[in-house]
Amino acid sequence: MYFTSQGIFTRQAHKGIPEGCVEEEQGRKGFYGAVSHLIRRKASTRWKLIDGPLKPRMFDLVKADKSGRRQRLLYNQDITLYSQWVSPDDAKNLTAFRNADGDSLYFCHIGTGTLLTEYGLLKYRPGDYLMIQKCIAHLFLPEVDSQFLIIENLSGDYREPDRGMVGKNAVYDTAQLEKPDLTGQQEFLQKNKARCTVVEVKHTDEITRFEYEDCVFDVLGWKGDLFPFKLNMDQLMPLVSHRAHLPPSAHTTFVAPNFVVCSFVPRPVESDEDALKVPFYHQNIDYDEVLFYHNGDFFSRANLHSGMMSFHPAGFPHGPHPQAFEKIKGMTFTNEYAVMIDTRRPLLRDASTEKLELTEYWKSWQKP
Ligand SMILES: [Fe+2]
Repeated sequence: MYFTSQGIFTRQAHKGIPEGCVEEEQGRKGFYGAVSHLIRRKASTRWKLIDGPLKPRMFDLVKADKSGRRQRLLYNQDITLYSQWVSPDDAKNLTAFRNADGDSLYFCHIGTGTLLTEYGLLKYRPGDYLMIQKCIAHLFLPEVDSQFLIIENLSGDYREPDRGMVGKNAVYDTAQLEKPDLTGQQEFLQKNKARCTVVEVKHTDEITRFEYEDCVFDVLGWKGDLFPFKLNMDQLMPLVSHRAHLPPSAHTTFVAPNFVVCSFVPRPVESDEDALKVPFYHQNIDYDEVLFYHNGDFFSRANLHSGMMSFHPAGFPHGPHPQAFEKIKGMTFTNEYAVMIDTRRPLLRDASTEKLELTEYWKSWQKP
């Protein structure tokens, strides 16, 4: 296809949108492919009725299963999203977990504690991404009740994002990736006289229990380029333009073959007088989008609290709530921490999410 235009259009996307109009982006391949910007009289989110299963959805994960088991939320053949609450009591049985179905990226929403792995321990705190690759035995020992959003990658290994012309140290320097502390783990196990002799293995979503005579965390040393690590949201250096809004793809943290994980962290608001300062309305045509609201002030959404998760499948445009345009005035910095997962293939909802869903969410773009 080639570039062309008709009627009113802007010469620079996300800037100089005619007064009283909105700009809507329709793009392929997750902000990398063919793209057009439509100048419309009104936002396409002004629906007055949606009749059918395809609609924006919101889930309150604060109400997710607190029994210690993983609660499946959304899934397809490439990815499964779970919520898991882990309490100090749950950890007393010292049963390790090994996921043979895929890499587990644990995002710590609430809580602090220690994660034992075959490679050493990682201390965790809110905002941490803990990357535990496929088949690595691990065990959470929380200090307090802890909640994780788990992004299970069934489609291949996680990779760093392509940083293109900004170079390999942009967004985060790989020297920021914190590796497990093996000596610390040996000391920790000795001091606490902890012995983990059971590993539960998940394979094709079935659990098999392996029992041993002695502790499975007995590694004396290791070398190689496969190891668990952690990265906190505070270590991210967001890409920004002070002149025009950048697409969410600028905030990619990890990439898998058929989905991406992006992080939204505080950043300055665009300062050009005619710049669109709220996220633009868009149809990310090829992707389903999930946003987990971790912390801060979610200025582009109304009636939200930390721990909620929105799900916007492909098939309709989305964008800021009407209140966002007022809220952003006078702001010089955003103060939101959120995790976004965009998937190439459609996501299905687990039946258990019905109890977590705010059923009126699709109406939330209507002006109050
Ligand atoms: Fe989006």
